[in-house]
Amino acid sequence: MGKTISCSVLLTLISCFSLQFCTALDTITPSKPIKDPESIISHSGVFRLGFFSFANSSNRYVGILYHQIPLQTVVWVANRNKPLKDSSGILNISDDGKLVVLNGKAEILWSSNVTNLVPNATTAKLLDSGNLVLNNGEDGGSSLWESFQDPSNAFIETMEIGTYVEKGRKVELKSWKSIDDPSDGNFSFAIEPFNIPEGIIRKNNQLYFRTGPWNGNIFIGVILTGYLDGFYMAVDNQQQTYYLTYKFSNNSMLMYYELNSQGKFVERRWDAGKGDWVNSYPILQTDCNDYGKCGPFGICDSTKRPICSCLKGFKPRNIEGWSKGNWSSGCLRTTPLQCQRDSNNGSETGQGDDGFLRLKMMKVPAFPDRSSLINRDCKDQCLKNCSCVAYAYDDGIGCMFWGGDLIDVQKFSSHGVDLYIRLPSSELDKGKSNKVIVVTTAIAGIVIITISALFLWCRMAKQRGRNKIWKQIKLQIYSENVEEKLVGVELQQLPLFNFEVLATATDNFHDTKKLGQGGFGPVYRGTLDDGKEIAVKRLSKASGQGLEEFMNEVVVISKLQHRNLVRLFGCCVEGEEKMLVYEYMPNKSLDAFLFDPSIQNVLDWRKRFNIIEGISRGLLYLHRDSRLKIIHRDLKASNILLDEELNPKISDFGMARIFGANENQANTKRIVGTYGYMSPEYAMQGQFSEKSDVFSFGVLLLEIVSGKKHTSFYNNEYDLSLLGYIKNK
Ligand SMILES: *[C@@H]1O[C@H](CO)[C@@H](O)[C@H](O)[C@H]1NC(C)=O
Ligand SMILES: *[C@@H]1O[C@H](CO)[C@@H](O)[C@H](O)[C@H]1NC(C)=O
Ligand SMILES: *[C@@H]1O[C@H](CO)[C@@H](O)[C@H](O)[C@H]1NC(C)=O
Ligand SMILES: *[C@@H]1O[C@H](CO)[C@@H](O)[C@H](O)[C@H]1NC(C)=O
Ligand SMILES: *[C@@H]1O[C@H](CO)[C@@H](O)[C@H](O)[C@H]1NC(C)=O
Ligand SMILES: *[C@@H]1O[C@H](CO)[C@@H](O)[C@H](O)[C@H]1NC(C)=O
Ligand SMILES: *[C@@H]1O[C@H](CO)[C@@H](O)[C@H](O)[C@H]1NC(C)=O
Ligand SMILES: *[C@@H]1O[C@H](CO)[C@@H](O)[C@H](O)[C@H]1NC(C)=O
Ligand SMILES: *[C@@H]1O[C@H](CO)[C@@H](O)[C@H](O)[C@H]1NC(C)=O
Repeated sequence: MGKTISCSVLLTLISCFSLQFCTALDTITPSKPIKDPESIISHSGVFRLGFFSFANSSNRYVGILYHQIPLQTVVWVANRNKPLKDSSGILNISDDGKLVVLNGKAEILWSSNVTNLVPNATTAKLLDSGNLVLNNGEDGGSSLWESFQDPSNAFIETMEIGTYVEKGRKVELKSWKSIDDPSDGNFSFAIEPFNIPEGIIRKNNQLYFRTGPWNGNIFIGVILTGYLDGFYMAVDNQQQTYYLTYKFSNNSMLMYYELNSQGKFVERRWDAGKGDWVNSYPILQTDCNDYGKCGPFGICDSTKRPICSCLKGFKPRNIEGWSKGNWSSGCLRTTPLQCQRDSNNGSETGQGDDGFLRLKMMKVPAFPDRSSLINRDCKDQCLKNCSCVAYAYDDGIGCMFWGGDLIDVQKFSSHGVDLYIRLPSSELDKGKSNKVIVVTTAIAGIVIITISALFLWCRMAKQRGRNKIWKQIKLQIYSENVEEKLVGVELQQLPLFNFEVLATATDNFHDTKKLGQGGFGPVYRGTLDDGKEIAVKRLSKASGQGLEEFMNEVVVISKLQHRNLVRLFGCCVEGEEKMLVYEYMPNKSLDAFLFDPSIQNVLDWRKRFNIIEGISRGLLYLHRDSRLKIIHRDLKASNILLDEELNPKISDFGMARIFGANENQANTKRIVGTYGYMSPEYAMQGQFSEKSDVFSFGVLLLEIVSGKKHTSFYNNEYDLSLLGYIKNK
């Protein structure tokens, strides 16, 4: 056996020397060129350099192919733009030391473009990496030319795609025309330095796709569908050298990357079982990938329809084109920046009254300027410079700034950076109102009809000038528990307040006027011009949820008049502002007295009895005596307000529900209220009726009598709640 092998090896060697060619060689020299259909094979047999053609075509090419797999897989083509028309081709080293592809008539179809000083000693060697290296001298000589420096469409391991500014050299992938035509196609992939290097795909030399800047670790403008094993970007700012390369950690995988004819970056993995390549796209493919899809100051979000919109504070430049889906003209600023106005005015301040809108999870726009600021001073830096229209920060990069147009802005659904867009503060405020409206709409459309009615109502009120017009408007509220049933409610005689009036009354919502913080906004104390004291609940702009409760409260409470219910004077709906105006209760809420040891003895038994009686009267009115049956659902000490004489008034009808005349019980999936006051069947199953209020009333009763909070009650022996403690007694 051993003998057979050594014999065959010997035979091969002999045949190599005796015959003028040998397929086992990996080197071409002037004396050893290759003729179609010969080839040379890299040392370990990974790659082959030789002649090939594509199916259904007589064109012959010289190229490098994977040698160990049955499928013809070409990773490099020499004469890609000038195919041989027959099988008379020769790959030789020419007299002047270039690697050349010649046809039968000795015409040069392709040559390695180098000037060679020692032509007679030149060799071309195919390495196991797939690199064909032209050497000046037998071995160890410096390389004159490499196939890796003139890539075709394939990006194979250890290849370096990049730009060498000092050497004036650029190594880029070039797509093929089609899958069986290796001539240069429309696309190229390169690493371009810009201010921060990034990967760029160009289509017919126009920017087509950006990876976003390299931050030392990743390209921040792409979402990868997997993990790019062993990818590495070399950045040498001094030498002005930037290149991307990779080396797999797992050598048993046969895999490479390709820029395909459609301009997509493709990962190709050999599946030995299938006997075929498996293609995948490592960069997430979305409609937004095309460079500048939405034009300057447009923003692309592939999850939206249409995918393009203008950034906040901008409007389409060409409305007609925009509505037809031609977004290329982009958007215009609606209001000039304050700093622009200032500078036009001759003022030198520059800082003006501009602010920044934060956009999360963004692909950064093209062509950022960079500042090596390490800390997060980006904002100040940008604000100082009126040409700066946006900034962003990345740990690996530092601050990025943009002047001029913002192009190729994209919203990701994960990853990305926070992008801060400079806007005049007037636009920023508008932005907030838009947000509130958007969020609100999403809340389930429950209140859409109500809102429009209210807007209508407000507009009508406005039209009639400053006089408070008493208006009757029919509002309809969708009641979640009564399936598909609309309960009509008449909103009557509720005055509208001007925003300015309330702002003046509360010293511009000054902190010193704050009475407390409700679930969906702060409450301020105010004094109207006529000296009447009011409490203003300002719906917090941030909480979209509050709007539903706001509307609910307006509708519910405007129907009710009772001395043990807090009185609603009116409301204010202007732009993003939504406010409720109540009578002012100087003694705040019951819990402030009840649970504060320093003042709880103000409540003697007589007063406590009065309070209990008042609450029960209020509750009786809600449940029985008013025209509607109302379940409060959030009865608790902090929702009982006290007037000068410590008379109790039930407040906060944000969670209240109106029951139909014959309705006794309802179910809800959305359990709202306060634990500890909720009846077990409500807390656990969402069932509620007037009995749930009675349960809460019971807890309240125990609190009033005991002066102990239901939650903070701890008995030394039994670690129990107030209810548990009393049950055990
Ligand atoms: C080559 O031609 C055959 C028959 O003409 C056809 O079935 C096949 O699809 C062609 N292959 C390619 C790659 O065009
Ligand atoms: C290859 O080129 C050398 C000169 O560089 C020449 O002497 C030789 O004849 C060529 N071989 C063929 C087969 O053309
Ligand atoms: C060959 O190189 C020279 C100088 O380096 C360059 O001017 C010329 O365009 C190159 N030719 C080809 C075909 O690449
Ligand atoms: C190459 O040519 C030079 C003269 O042109 C000669 O001196 C040298 O010996 C030659 N080398 C080889 C390896 O043939
Ligand atoms: C390449 O660009 C030309 C001209 O823009 C176009 O006609 C052709 O279809 C493009 N080819 C591909 C593969 O996109
Ligand atoms: C390496 O790749 C092979 C083939 O894909 C796979 O079976 C093996 O698990 C990989 N090894 C590691 C350490 O990832
Ligand atoms: C889109 O609009 C631009 C200018 O606004 C125009 O040049 C271009 O032809 C339009 N493209 C299409 C497809 O209508
Ligand atoms: C200068 O700015 C002030 C305040 O912004 C403005 O009232 C005034 O009209 C401006 N003047 C000119 C000439 O633009
Ligand atoms: C202002 O910002 C622009 C855009 O980032 C930049 O090009 C310019 O150099 C900056 N000017 C100064 C004085 O910093």
